[in-house]
Amino acid sequence: MCGIVGYIGHREAYPIVIKGLQRLEYRGYDSAGIALYDGNNIKLSKTKGKVSDLKERLENEIATDGTLGIGHTRWATHGVPNDVNSHPHYSNSGDLVIIHNGIIENYDSLKKELIKRGYTFKSDTDTEVLVNLIEDVKKNENIKLGKAVQVALNQVIGAYAIAVFDKNKPNEIVVAKLGSPLAIGIGEDEFFIASDASPFIEFTKNAIYLEDEEMAIIRRNKDIKVRKIKGDAIVDPYIQELQLNLEQIEKGGYDHFMLKEIHEQPDAIFDTFRGRLLSNEAMVKLAGVEDNMKKFLAADRIIVVACGTSWHAGLVSEYIFEDLARIPVEVEYASEFRYRNPVITEKDVVIAISQSGETADTLAAIKLAKSKGAFVFGVCNVVGSSIARETDAGAYTHAGPEIGVASTKAFTTQITVLTLMALRLARAKGTISSSEFRHHLIELETIPSKVEKALKSDAYVQTVADIYKDATNFLYLGRGFNFPVALEGALKLKEISYIHAEGYPAAEMKHGPIALIDEQMPVVVIATKKGHYEKVVSNIQEIKSRKGKIIGIVTEGDKSVKELADHVIEVPETIECLTPLLTTIPLQLLSYHIAVMLDKNVDQPRNLAKSVTVE
Ligand code: M6R
Repeated sequence: MCGIVGYIGHREAYPIVIKGLQRLEYRGYDSAGIALYDGNNIKLSKTKGKVSDLKERLENEIATDGTLGIGHTRWATHGVPNDVNSHPHYSNSGDLVIIHNGIIENYDSLKKELIKRGYTFKSDTDTEVLVNLIEDVKKNENIKLGKAVQVALNQVIGAYAIAVFDKNKPNEIVVAKLGSPLAIGIGEDEFFIASDASPFIEFTKNAIYLEDEEMAIIRRNKDIKVRKIKGDAIVDPYIQELQLNLEQIEKGGYDHFMLKEIHEQPDAIFDTFRGRLLSNEAMVKLAGVEDNMKKFLAADRIIVVACGTSWHAGLVSEYIFEDLARIPVEVEYASEFRYRNPVITEKDVVIAISQSGETADTLAAIKLAKSKGAFVFGVCNVVGSSIARETDAGAYTHAGPEIGVASTKAFTTQITVLTLMALRLARAKGTISSSEFRHHLIELETIPSKVEKALKSDAYVQTVADIYKDATNFLYLGRGFNFPVALEGALKLKEISYIHAEGYPAAEMKHGPIALIDEQMPVVVIATKKGHYEKVVSNIQEIKSRKGKIIGIVTEGDKSVKELADHVIEVPETIECLTPLLTTIPLQLLSYHIAVMLDKNVDQPRNLAKSVTVE
């Protein structure tokens, strides 16, 4: 977690760094800080709270000049969020200044050593240990900053993306990366540093993404030298042309990124299957699957590893893969999988799902699966992310940047990719007839316009949200393909409105949760026409007899549920395996409107961060 930004060049650094921090705030927003250097004085300011608090403080308190600057927005790991623990951190001499995203796991033993050598610490952070370690190495070995960073990092266990500068070297920033992302934007005689490219997209389209265990020495008006942290190898960096544009990372007239991203789903789903779903030719083309078809066809089973919403998409895929391609699927929380000595063989295919491509637990699960010889396939949104690079092959979702902490379009596009994969494998295995296959492709092609239609329920969902916004608990029920959607609906409500919510398979209700139902309990039931409709209607009756308040998510034109439910929200009809792509829409809208009505911070809910790069 945490976002880092830096600038060195000919412009004032402050506006670039502060705006960059605002764009990276999705990565953490407990506290923020900035250090600006005009060649003579370092102006460092940091505060608990949001980047807007920092901005207010800076604009009132200190002048903001300097053409070198670094900034940080924090999601606390070591040390509570307060002013002192915020980054940047000085070294003891005051010469070095650092920002850091990640965790130094052996910070305690390093700190004890440094204390023995007379160093003192103001904060509880691992980062202050790192900057003093660099200082100590630099002084003892009488070496330049770049070399000192390299030597110090070789003593460190953990993960980091750092940027550090030396007061005595006003034309240089040193950066390094292991396990946390770091991009360097290359402009005309200027360089940008950031956790992702969004802070510098209006200045340059050229960027280097450092690989793990690489560092770079960035010199004003000069060049960048990239090298390995271990050993002496010099790296010839690959300069990428960024596909991102400014529009994609701005709210575009919406009140919140989450609402924008909910409404982007028709396009995001279309972009995800564009060029891959070829209904005229009755084909699905996914290069990552095609190139590894033998491995997929020989697989005893598929193991899906993921966290949070991505795990829910994995659960949906379990139903889809098993139904269409007849391949057994196990869906695992990456955080559990990595530590429970799972049985994995070379005949397993592991699918890792992650929007950010940076989730630490998912990354560790991938490494474990690879070490046991499994073939690992990634489904990621962020191009070039750690998971995308670590997996043997993969297929990107093309959702575009997802900035709201609550995942929305990532979920539906993940399901889209996984459905395409299942269809391709089903065709290859002959578990689906050609007419069924073609029918599925044609139906999937209609999904963007059906999502568009489902979004039209927005005004009615707002009315429902207003009625139930003060409820303290919600139950979400679904069956089959829509059981994971119930889990996802509950997660969305919890994370942005802080209302307790639970998702359950509808038929499990009578084994426990039914005891919770009374006239205060809103129960959201996904009861679309396909699948186990009659059974779900019976479950609704059971809720009704106990006076629960029923919000039904139903297929257009439904009559039976309408008679029983307090409210029904309609979604267009589609084939059963594609219903999650539609039923999830009103649930996203419901949680969004409740959170807005409760005046919660929808895009940056408390205690959360967009990419969880710590375990
Ligand atoms: O980037 P990832 O998909 O790997 O992230 C996994 C979870 O952290 C993420 O889905 C989280 O649960 C979201 N906040 C849910 O909205």
